[in-house]
Amino acid sequence: MRRSKMYNLVFAGEMRLIGEVIRIEDDRATIQVYEETDGLTLGGEIIDTGGPLCAELGPGLLSSIFDGIQRPLAGIAKEAGGIIPTGVTMPALDRQKRWRFTPLVEPGREIGAGDVIGTIQETASITHRVMIPTGVRGVIKEIRTGDMCLEDPVATLQDGTDIRPVQRWPVRRPRPFTRKITSEAPFITGQRIIDTLFPIASGGSVIIPGGFGTGKTVLEQTLAKFARADIIIYIGCGERGNEIAEVLTRFPGLEDPYTGHPLMDRSTLIVNTSNMPVAAREASIYTGITIGEYYRDMGYNVAVLADSVSRWAEAMREISGRLEELPGEEGFPMYLASRLAAFYERAGMVECTGQGGRKGSVTVCTAVSPPGGDFSEPVTQSALRVTGAMWALDTHLARRRHFPAIHWGKSFSLYRLDEWFCKNIATDWPQLKGWLMALLQKDEELQDVVQLVGPDALQDQDRVVVEMGFLIRENYLQQSPYSPEDAFCPLKKQYWMLKIFFKAYESALKELGEGHSIDEIFTTGRKVILADLKNIPGEKFPEAAEEIIKGL
Ligand SMILES: Nc1ncnc2c1ncn2[C@@H]1O[C@H](COP(=O)(O)OP(=O)(O)O)[C@@H](O)[C@H]1O
Ligand SMILES: [Mg+2]
Repeated sequence: MRRSKMYNLVFAGEMRLIGEVIRIEDDRATIQVYEETDGLTLGGEIIDTGGPLCAELGPGLLSSIFDGIQRPLAGIAKEAGGIIPTGVTMPALDRQKRWRFTPLVEPGREIGAGDVIGTIQETASITHRVMIPTGVRGVIKEIRTGDMCLEDPVATLQDGTDIRPVQRWPVRRPRPFTRKITSEAPFITGQRIIDTLFPIASGGSVIIPGGFGTGKTVLEQTLAKFARADIIIYIGCGERGNEIAEVLTRFPGLEDPYTGHPLMDRSTLIVNTSNMPVAAREASIYTGITIGEYYRDMGYNVAVLADSVSRWAEAMREISGRLEELPGEEGFPMYLASRLAAFYERAGMVECTGQGGRKGSVTVCTAVSPPGGDFSEPVTQSALRVTGAMWALDTHLARRRHFPAIHWGKSFSLYRLDEWFCKNIATDWPQLKGWLMALLQKDEELQDVVQLVGPDALQDQDRVVVEMGFLIRENYLQQSPYSPEDAFCPLKKQYWMLKIFFKAYESALKELGEGHSIDEIFTTGRKVILADLKNIPGEKFPEAAEEIIKGL
């Protein structure tokens, strides 16, 4: 094995099981096989493919479902029936399918890596830009038009190099870009608590830690459906099979709220359930982000959603344990933190390689499942150090069925996006947000007293805070992904809702000053108005709001 390299892909045994070199000592190599190793025998042949695990990148990625090493699950199911046979190999992308290629450049044109030479309408929602692969440069001798298979050359350079609409990229290596850009625009989710209090930049990263049943999966799916991204890469990583099965059956039926086309038209799903081999699970995160980067390079805004990185870290722990490496905290390998950092580092908004100054972004939102809901464990802590934000899901909120169960006291975002909100939504956005946060904090403090002796023991001003706090928690922070009108709340609507709550608070204080009692101030009528705000369609604002504010 003297010439083998770390991370080279190999085929093992008669069944040609796919594996990876994960350790080399003298002329011995250790191979991690991605599948069940039943049937491997002593003396079995090992074939080194000469390169690392690569993703196939080209049209056909969207609306596909892959496993962690990018085997097309639908294709395999069609060929083999319900269960993936060991040793099955099938190209990730369909070789027979023809795609209509439309050239954008003419012969004689000098081109280099990242340049777009033509387009393919990949799905009804997304135009695939065919790019020159990294390392290729030259002058176009010939460029074709019409229906092409992935292996057909769409262009030939003067030096004879053929350009095909498919390329390969080693998944563990970040794809290149010209430079990173600091993004000032938010990654809009339509979820009030996120967009108002803890927004992240597009090209940012966030962790969503939460104990069992706190709504991580539901939130990831809500993001998949509503977040303002061109492309969605959903990585179901190591969660239970039946949960993933639910995603797989539900997702393809979903309609894209922005285009009306199927949501799958702009999505790729990567699934590795807990009962699938751990090595492929470890690879799935890299496969997913590589596909994300590829669409970023075309100039799209991509969201990579992973559920959950804890299962990924556990896969790393299992592999590391078998190698008898020196364990770090809680048995995780010493390199856990650096692996996590390297992964989140692949998020970002960039100026893409190639001519034309395209910009693209990869936003990364990952669920974390800390055992027992204890956020002090190594995966949450290591991820926290490298992401810019945390949407902390809280067991108590989930138990009270306050959803999304994002805890406003424990969550944070380091992204500074106020300027964007001032410019694009309203100049008083930061003030309103500041008021909301302060009110919620005060409410939280007062809740201790309320629990102990009841609200009547509070001073009247504090009772106003508690009443308002309750109304806001119920009607602003809570939001149902299943309500047609409320599942996505546009930013303008968030602003006007917030403004109405603020006005209601001001009027309450004023009336209190005039000697009214709490019951006279917080009438049922008023409460109903505030509770109904979320059901007013977004386009009715600001007119609806102006009416309501007059009446408060
Ligand atoms: N936003 C939500 N709205 C309503 N119910 C929710 C919401 N999020 C979670 N739930 C409820 O909580 C259950 C568990 O959520 P899930 O996302 O599967 O938790 P986790 O992935 O954290 O274990 C769901 O089946 C659903 O009943
Ligand atoms: Mg889950």
